[in-house]
Amino acid sequence: LKGKYLGAVASAASESALEEVRLAALGKKGEISALMSTLGKMDPDQRKATGAALNILRDEIDAALRAKKSALGDAALDERLRSEWLDVTLPGRPRRMGTIHPVSQVMEELTAIFADMGFAVAEGPQVESDWYNFDALNIPPEHPARQEHDTFFMHRAPGDNRPPHVLRTHTSPVQIRAMTEQGAPIRVIAPGRVYRMDMDQTHTPMFHQVEGLAIDRNISMANLKWVLEEFCRAFFEVPSVELRFRASHFPFTEPSAEVDIRCSWTGGQLKIGEGDSWLEILGSGMVHPKVLTAAGVDPAQWQGFAFGMGIDRIAMLKYGIPDLRAFFESDLRWLRHYGFAA
Ligand code: PHE
Repeated sequence: LKGKYLGAVASAASESALEEVRLAALGKKGEISALMSTLGKMDPDQRKATGAALNILRDEIDAALRAKKSALGDAALDERLRSEWLDVTLPGRPRRMGTIHPVSQVMEELTAIFADMGFAVAEGPQVESDWYNFDALNIPPEHPARQEHDTFFMHRAPGDNRPPHVLRTHTSPVQIRAMTEQGAPIRVIAPGRVYRMDMDQTHTPMFHQVEGLAIDRNISMANLKWVLEEFCRAFFEVPSVELRFRASHFPFTEPSAEVDIRCSWTGGQLKIGEGDSWLEILGSGMVHPKVLTAAGVDPAQWQGFAFGMGIDRIAMLKYGIPDLRAFFESDLRWLRHYGFAA
């Protein structure tokens, strides 16, 4: 009996096979247990001798079972360690990293530069009512500027009584929203997407502007000039810039000026701050009294400047990119060429 069970224990190849051996020998209905239960019918001497022998046998089998069980456990652990082995010293496989789009990078940069000058960020919707986009900015329905804006109109089904909406053609409606919400004094920029039906090397139907607005008791064009020069020096990372203010016209500013930056093109290389070329970068002026009134700000007490700058335009200048459309084609080869993607 001893040889039979110790042999079975030795040849059990798994924990479940071992359990079967245990049940067959020591389980309630096992062979050893059955022999134990015959002890009661034996005479005392025989019972004593057989009982002692059975106890020894049971302990031996039990010890063998335990030893085998722990050996099987060790083997299973060894096997797992072998199969799940990992060399943490191997160099990793390189993965291409995502990067921030150049236009987003420029938005973050200019937001930080204006923040240093005390400008907070204001926002407005891209689907804008024509009142905010035009009327409140002193562009009444019959005004020719409405045509010049190449506006995308939102469709309205017959019976839809909501006011007409457009894709905003500039960030200027955020001037109205910010002043209506916060009143004066106020100093904000409003970067974001704008839309016009236009497409060539320097125009895309969606592009980005940043609006600037500063209203206080006695803000003047001189403050505008300083803010823009500070911004350009910081943004283009040059010691000095020269800006040229050209008299212009916008319905929402009076007086109005378009602003050019001095630069040079030599061998296809653009340099900001020197040379004898001028590049237009923004429109600006003193906020028109009618605009202040439309936004609930009293023009007898408050005045200030506003400007609207093309973000994609200044990004092209900063990175020397000739074609605006490439910005929005998501062509990884192009993005990598300019170092905008890994
Ligand atoms: N909204 C004008 C445009 O898109 C720019 C502008 C903004 C001009 C603010 C003056 C003041 O062309």
